[in-house]
Amino acid sequence: MIITKAMRTLSFMIAAMVTMTLVAACGQTGKKSKENTETIESKTLVAYFSATGTTEAVAKDVAQATGGTLYEIKPEVKYTAEDLDWTVKTSRSSVEMQDKSSRPAIVKDLEDVSKYETIYVGFPVWWYTAPTIINTFLEAYDFSGKTVIFFATSGGSTIDKANEEFKAAYPKINWKAGQTLNGATLEDIKAWVATL
Ligand SMILES: Cc1cc2nc3c(=O)[nH]c(=O)nc-3n(C[C@H](O)[C@H](O)[C@H](O)COP(=O)(O)O)c2cc1C
Repeated sequence: MIITKAMRTLSFMIAAMVTMTLVAACGQTGKKSKENTETIESKTLVAYFSATGTTEAVAKDVAQATGGTLYEIKPEVKYTAEDLDWTVKTSRSSVEMQDKSSRPAIVKDLEDVSKYETIYVGFPVWWYTAPTIINTFLEAYDFSGKTVIFFATSGGSTIDKANEEFKAAYPKINWKAGQTLNGATLEDIKAWVATL
């Protein structure tokens, strides 16, 4: 009787230990797969600047097509309609674009850039190239060794000048030629992303 009780206690303890080990193992597996998922999700960043919303809409599709994290490059001082008037030589955008060294201030709130390997950077074409706020963004964080791909919206100009200028200005970045995505559908963007 005493032996049976002891045996029962022992078998209970063994069963409990096995259960605990299994629970711990499952817990770890669950944690690991969650971490893995997070790692996959966070390796691509889709950063964009958009003054009037066109590029923003495309950026959302790029984020969906790539599974990347969407991030808005925010000017410290927002651009007004007057600022954007390219027909006026003294408007803010005209002044900035005439001065290659201009670096409009941005809100610097992008966290832990080191975790991203590929960064898509979207913008509206201004004066045939990228707005200088894109220079501010690229200089505000350390993107050396990372792959950067431009995309843009425009009234018809291509992104070629921006591709060339930025490749020359930031040689530590691993550039992949980007393109304009005017009127592109999500399916178009998925097809483009697949070619990169
Ligand atoms: C200051 C300024 C300069 C522009 N320069 C060009 C240009 O050189 N070529 C072009 O095709 N479109 C040009 N555009 C038009 C924008 O690229 C286009 O409207 C873009 O889709 C706006 O994007 P957003 O709504 O994300 O700001 C210019 C617009 C502004 C405000």
